[in-house]
This record gives sequence, structure tokens and C-alpha cells, in this order.
Amino acid sequence: MKTITIHSYRGGTGKTNIALSMAECLAQREKQVCLMDFDFRAPSLGSFFGYKPSNYINDFLEERCGIEDLLVSVEEFNDRLFVGFASSEIRDIKEAMKEDKKKQMKILSKILNGRDSLKDNMDYLIFDTAPGLRYSSTNVILSSDLVLLVATLDRSDLAGTKRMIEEIHEILNMPHSVIINKAPAGISGEEVSKEIGDKLSQNMICTIQCYCEVMSLRGRETIFHHQPEHPFSRAIEEITDKIS
Ligand SMILES: Nc1ncnc2c1ncn2[C@@H]1O[C@H](COP(=O)(O)OP(=O)(O)OP(=O)(O)O)[C@@H](O)[C@H]1O
Ligand SMILES: [Mg+2]
Repeated sequence: MKTITIHSYRGGTGKTNIALSMAECLAQREKQVCLMDFDFRAPSLGSFFGYKPSNYINDFLEERCGIEDLLVSVEEFNDRLFVGFASSEIRDIKEAMKEDKKKQMKILSKILNGRDSLKDNMDYLIFDTAPGLRYSSTNVILSSDLVLLVATLDRSDLAGTKRMIEEIHEILNMPHSVIINKAPAGISGEEVSKEIGDKLSQNMICTIQCYCEVMSLRGRETIFHHQPEHPFSRAIEEITDKIS
């Protein structure tokens, strides 16, 4: 099983869209996929799928259920795509956001155990995260084989992403790649490379343009599912080829 975390320095760069689309793409390719919403700050997979599961990732981390009790099979993927949801109850959000080092060390070990117990049944485990440096994100980063950092061409986003690579991923020797998302139409690959500098260019696996059609779906379905021939969907196929 390969474990992949989708992360970013800034919010709103497109992590959830990319994580969901990659999960759909891998499931279409007959892989067993588990997608987990580790954005406890602002869970979004629940509203996307319209599910209200009986157990959340929060329950697993608080030792109220096993990992297998929280996974929901997405119907149209015939038991190929499973999703773990985060609770959007305010009290659960507050609890999950506590930056208590001792508690979070325990949570890291729970995540590692949970990951290991999925190994025999899944080909891919994908973690969608909250942006920036917080325990919920660093814990899954530490449990991953690969981190995909999604950045935009915004100057402060690029500078922050570069710092995260230098100060965390390189020090921990974590395999990581960069996806540039929401690039303005018409910008050439050469211009992107110049804009992002050598450090990010070396690690970049894909540039995705900004498309109004992606936003127009308003979190009801992915463009990958809705329009498989769309350039956004083709970029997802390209990323999936590269990480497989
Ligand atoms: N290539 C794109 N072109 C246009 N809009 C995009 C593109 N990628 C993502 N978006 C839009 O950007 C918004 C944010 O995307 P998304 O929720 O996936 O980001 P996120 O990184 O998960 O955000 P957060 O950090 O808040 O969790 C959504 O409205 C989404 O449709
Ligand atoms: Mg998100």
C-alpha cells in the first residue's frame, strides 16, 4: 500500500479537489483506495458525498471505534473507493484541533497502527489535510510515503511552500512533490519554472491551470468525474501516472 498526503502551506490551493479526483482516478483504474479527511478544522468530504456516517475519524482517534468501523464504501465504485470522514460538530472540531503534544504523540501512534491495519486490503491510502503546520497534518505527513504539496503561483504561497520543504521535508527526508494549481491561462512551462525558482521546479510534477468549470461545480462533484476529457482531468491522470 502506498500512503500519500495532500498538503499545502496556504488554504484553498485545491488539495481536496485533487485528493478526491486522484482517489476517483485510482479507483477507476481498479485499485483499492481509501481517502481520509484529516482536515478537522473544516471537514469537507461529508458534504461532498452527502454522507453522515455513524463513526468518524475523530471517534477512531479518541479510541471509540476501530478504523474499519469508520470507512464508508462509495456506492458507484463497487467497493473500490472507501472514505473516512471528519466530524463537523463544533465540539469535535475543538477537540481535534487541540495542539497538545502528549495527546498528539498518542494520535500519531494510532494513525500509524490504523495505516498498518489497512495495508492488506488497500492499494492506496490518501490523506486530505488542513493547510499549514498543525499536528493533524504533520501526523499524517509522518505516516506517508509521499507528500504532494499543492501551491498556487501566489508569491507568499510559493515562499511558504519553499520554506516548508527546506525546514521539514528535506530535514525529515520525506519524499515530496509539488503541484502548481490554478495557474493563469496561457502561462508557459518556462514562465512557471522561472516564477517558482529552482527548488520548487526540481520537485514539480504538474501544473494545472485555473478553470472556471472546476469552480462552477461548487463542491457537488469533481470535474474529473463530470468531464473526464477536461484538461483538469487529464492533469489528474498525469499526476496519478507519476505517483503510481
Ligand atoms: N484548477 C482549478 N481551477 C479553478 N478552481 C479550482 C481549481 N482547483 C481548485 N479550484 C477551486 O478552488 C476552491 C478551493 O479548492 P479546494 O477546496 O480543493 O482547496 P483546499 O486546498 O482543499 O482548501 P482548504 O485549504 O480550505 O481545505 C474550490 O472552489 C475549487 O473548486
Ligand atoms: Mg480542503
